[in-house]
Amino acid sequence: MNAILRAMLFALDPETSHQLSILALKSGLLKVRPQSDTPHLRSKVAGLDFPNPLGIAAGYDKNAEVPHQLIRLGFGFAEIGSVTPLPQPGNPRPRIFRLQSDHAVINRLGFNNEGHAVCLKRLEAGHDPRHIVGVNIGANKQSTDRIADYEAGIDVFAHVASYFTVNISSPNTPGLRDLQTREHLAELLSRVKERRDRKATDTGRAVPIFLKIAPDLGERDLDDVAEEIETRRIEGLIVSNTTLDRTGLQDKAHASEPGGLSGRPLFEKSTAVLAKMRRRCGPDLAMIGVGGVDSIETALEKIRAGADLVQLYTGFVYGGPALPARIVLGLKRHAEKEGLSNLSELRDSAVAKWADRPLA
Ligand code: FNR
Repeated sequence: MNAILRAMLFALDPETSHQLSILALKSGLLKVRPQSDTPHLRSKVAGLDFPNPLGIAAGYDKNAEVPHQLIRLGFGFAEIGSVTPLPQPGNPRPRIFRLQSDHAVINRLGFNNEGHAVCLKRLEAGHDPRHIVGVNIGANKQSTDRIADYEAGIDVFAHVASYFTVNISSPNTPGLRDLQTREHLAELLSRVKERRDRKATDTGRAVPIFLKIAPDLGERDLDDVAEEIETRRIEGLIVSNTTLDRTGLQDKAHASEPGGLSGRPLFEKSTAVLAKMRRRCGPDLAMIGVGGVDSIETALEKIRAGADLVQLYTGFVYGGPALPARIVLGLKRHAEKEGLSNLSELRDSAVAKWADRPLA
């Protein structure tokens, strides 16, 4: 990123600089010339045609303000949300912390968002059928039937969402991660799937569903998730959300802030869980690898570990608006240099290396 711009943004508190970056994207001030479409990077995943495999992860554009502007920076797709049925303020500020020496962030936002109705209006107004925009759905903190909140998300967004992400892995809504346990997961996935299928008869399109999991699950939990995904025939998996783990951090000033840690220190753990899930779920499940991607090499390694697609968020905070185009160009050059007709040929080449790692 331009050094002066970065110094200015980093002098502000993280939430203010995030809001400024959204404003800058909305205003069209940020000009980047992204890589044009290339056959080396195109892929069909969960029935959708992706121009390249790099997406912006959920949480950056929670309220669907700039998905198309993000795609114009070079991202192959954008995921908005998490969005909950009712608007909610989230936790008190400060609630985002930069751990600069670790290239990491801790957040405890708690699903602050403007709610379904506002996001729906924006998505409908800006709809561009050439762009892949996923909708990440969550549950309100005060909800008495959390699964019903996910069903409502399916109902509301089925005609505008390229895909759905069912996010049950945010550490910042108390109890949400319990939905990852076998019994709850079975009910959640069957209800969400049924609702999706019902909507498909109205709209003529079955929107693919991705489940987004935490990186802090044990081997047994991963078995359960894999079995439920198979039983309920969910199309995809996103690995992973932020971690509660604080191992090896250098920035002692913020390391003990409660919340989810993202960025570089999450790379190894989330990549190991990704590979473990690829091994369990087999070659046909659509998988998105996310956690600590901030370079061409880290994006490539996610693909080698089993990812069809890759997302990043924290890398964007540190790397700035030119990062997606730089990574996408690097991926294309890598495919050309290695003589691959498509980058997806790399997928799974390092599953064993990552999947054999013990989970700490
Ligand atoms: C997130 N993330 C996130 N994920 C999600 O499913 N719903 C959300 O609302 C949010 N919100 C959010 C806010 C902030 C400030 C951060 C840093 C992250 C998690 C995000 O999508 C991703 O899974 C992790 O951050 C790991 O990727 P990176 O950041 O290491 O590339």
